[in-house]
Parts: sequence; C-alpha cells; structure tokens
Amino acid sequence: MWQGRFQERPAESLSKFGQSVSFDWRLYRQDIAGSIAHARGLLRAGILSEEEFAAIEKGLKGIEADISDGKLRFLEELEDVHMNIEAELTRRIGEAGAKLHTARSRNDQVATDVRMYLRMEGGRIVREISELQRVFVGLAKKYHRVLIPGYTHLQRAQPVPVAHHFLAYCEMLERDKERLADALKRIRLCPLGSGAIAGSTIVLDREAIAAELGFDGVSQNSMDAVADRDFVCEFLSVFAILGMHLSRISEDAILWCSAEFGFLRLSDAYTTGSSLMPQKRNPDVAELVRGKSGRLVGNLVSLLVMTKGLPLTYNRDLQEDKEPLFDSLDTVSSCLRIFAEMFATAEIDVAAARAAAADPVLLATDLADYLVQRGVPFRRAHEMVGRMVARAEQLGVRLSDLPAEEIERIAPLAVKGFGEVFDLDRAMRVRTAPGAPSPERIAERIAWWEQRLQGS
Ligand code: ARG
Repeated sequence: MWQGRFQERPAESLSKFGQSVSFDWRLYRQDIAGSIAHARGLLRAGILSEEEFAAIEKGLKGIEADISDGKLRFLEELEDVHMNIEAELTRRIGEAGAKLHTARSRNDQVATDVRMYLRMEGGRIVREISELQRVFVGLAKKYHRVLIPGYTHLQRAQPVPVAHHFLAYCEMLERDKERLADALKRIRLCPLGSGAIAGSTIVLDREAIAAELGFDGVSQNSMDAVADRDFVCEFLSVFAILGMHLSRISEDAILWCSAEFGFLRLSDAYTTGSSLMPQKRNPDVAELVRGKSGRLVGNLVSLLVMTKGLPLTYNRDLQEDKEPLFDSLDTVSSCLRIFAEMFATAEIDVAAARAAAADPVLLATDLADYLVQRGVPFRRAHEMVGRMVARAEQLGVRLSDLPAEEIERIAPLAVKGFGEVFDLDRAMRVRTAPGAPSPERIAERIAWWEQRLQGS
C-alpha cells in the first residue's frame, strides 16, 4: 500500500495505533463472501477471465478454511481484515489476486461486511431472546396458581399471579425482538459498488452482486452508502434497551432472593458464596447482568458521539464503530444465555409467596370497588376504605378482621359483602379484562406464548 505514493513505510507506532485486524478479523466470512460475489461481478464485466475468477474463488475459500482452523496469522501492518485477506490471496495466487480490488474500496467493503455480519448475529440474538422467553413461559406454567404481591413504588400493591410477572418479561422481550427485526430491515440494501465515495468508472452489475450476498437490493447514493453508520447506532440502541430490560429483570431477581422477599430460590450452580461470610448465597449472575447494561448504554453513546461530528463521507473515525458493536453483541448474547440457564433452574418459594400475597390489605382496592358496585362514588369509597385500613392498624388487626361495628360505623354498605371481598381466589377470578390476571386470562396468554414461540 505504502509503496506507490510514499517514500517511507508507516511508523510502527502508526501501524499499531491504526490497525483494526485484531478485532475486525471477525468479519472474515462476510468479507470473503463479498469478495467472491464482487469477483463474479468483475468476471461478468470482462475484467477477470474465467481462470482468474476460478483462482480467486478457490484461493479465497482456502483462506477462509485456514482462518477457521486458526492457521492464518493476521498481520497488523496490513491494518485490517480486508487488506490481510487480499494480500494473502495475492501471495497465494499471484496477479489474479491483484485484480480483485478493481472498482471497489474498503469503504464500501466494510459497510457491506458489517451489514452481513449483523444480519447473521441479529438472527442469532432473536433466537436467544426467544429461548429466554420460553424459560419465562415455563415458569409461568409451573407456578400458574401461585400469587405474590405485585409492587408499585416497591410497596406491596395488589396480589398477582407470579405467572403474570413472568409473562410481563415476555412482553418486554417481544418488543426487543420487534425492534431488532426492524433494525434488520434497514440493512437489506447492499453498499458494494459505491466504491470509496463516487462509484467507479468500471460499472458492475450491482443488483446481481447484492442478490448473491442475500441483500434485497442496492443502496442508491454512493456517498451516503459509505458514510452511513445509522444501522450500527440502531442495533446498539436496540441492545441498550434490551440491556435495560435485562437489568430490570435482574433487579427483581436480586430483590426476590433476598431474605426480605424470599420468593425466588436460585440453584447453587448460579449463585456464589462469600469468601468471608459462610451463610451467603449471592445472586452474582443477576448483578453482573445488571452491571453490564451500563456498557450497552455506553457503547451506544460512543457511537453517537463518534459519528455526530463527521463530515460526509468516510472518515477513519468510523473504524471505531466495531469494538462497541462487537462488545454489545457479545454482552447481550452472554447475558441472554446465562439468564436462560439461571431462570430455568430457579424455583419459586411457594409458601413465602403465598404468605406475602395473603395480606388482606392488598385487597383494599377491591373493597373500594365493592362499595362502588353498591353505588358509592369511587373517591368516597377510597376514603372510607382508607379509614378502615387506618382503624385496623390502630386496633392491631388485619383488615379482613375489622370488627363489624367498626365497618358499620365507617361504611355501612360494606358490612354484607366484607368477607367475600377478601377471598383471594375470587378476587383473581373476577379480573377478566384482556391483559388482567384472571386464571383464564393467564392460561390463554400462556397458550398464546407457547404457540408464538414455537420453533422461533
Ligand atoms: N478498517 C477500516 C474501517 O473499519 C476499513 C475502511 C478503511 N478505509 C480507508 N479509507 N482507510 O473503517
């Protein structure tokens, strides 16, 4: 590279500083597929002979196999995966290799490789999310009769089936999959043929090359095509949101396996001990997943800040897109996989959950609803029940044990149905609106998820 224009080779410090092959080597499969398709384009355009094309194809496939087997050493002075592969090809097959880079630049090459890589990795992450969803559906099914207190403001609010809680996670994760599917839609156009910035005087059949590489079509502005990193920002943003979800799920798990809550028991295989305190069982997996959400947000911010000041079109800054992207892909994947394992082996402490959910005060709103059904305006009912709760507290009794004369004094209309309101089974049974947690609705939703997640 340096031999033409330059009299001196690049400083070793520059090679070290500027190289990307230590991380972009991961793109080698996509890079090689892209090169083969491009070479076929050159063949069709009459730039390569049949023999030359055959040598290139064979040479590249050999290189791919050697990289897979760990037999090829990448050289830092060749900067990146693209130059390493091209130089190795020329070393192996001679002159024909030197023709490969006709009508192509690393600018359109890298833009193509990263899109293809994301297509593959994105699909894998969708499957990993589905796997975690399946684990949550399994827990919902296993514990479908168990109630826990649901929380708002981290204060006990109303009883809910623990299944409803697990199925809430499925909804969150489903949106992540939708966002991912949407981001995948915007990497369907192939940048190859854009060259460094302004296409090429040698015109190739871009559509055919794109089709060979599994794209739906070709990009329509060569400048935008080499400058665009929106898609990297989009994937990183999808992963940051997914990480935020996993972090919230972690937080629930961490609280639930504390002695204060005691609803969840993680298996020994996914908890750690303390080096000092022999009694400890720490939920490190969940804590690490929560912690790692920080870098997912950080990677998104890196990309946005790195890109925002760049004039069109390609600038070397853009090479800085890869480490955050690869890091987020790896982080998200490892979190999803270990979470699936951890939750698949976790158990609900049914007795602790039941005991916590049985506090009658959690049905205070149901009591207000009961009064509403007897014609009391909700605001008045709310106030009456508030007074009953305060009175029960004063007397040191559970709300459901408030003496009849006290009820009579505060809300005479409540006396008759008072006992029935505190029947937990009934309280759940009547919550039949779509999205509400009656046992039938939960069963319906479990079936819906099972169907939805089949084979995904
Ligand atoms: N390694 C580079 C990157 O990832 C490839 C493109 C280099 N292009 C260039 N004109 N130096 O961005």
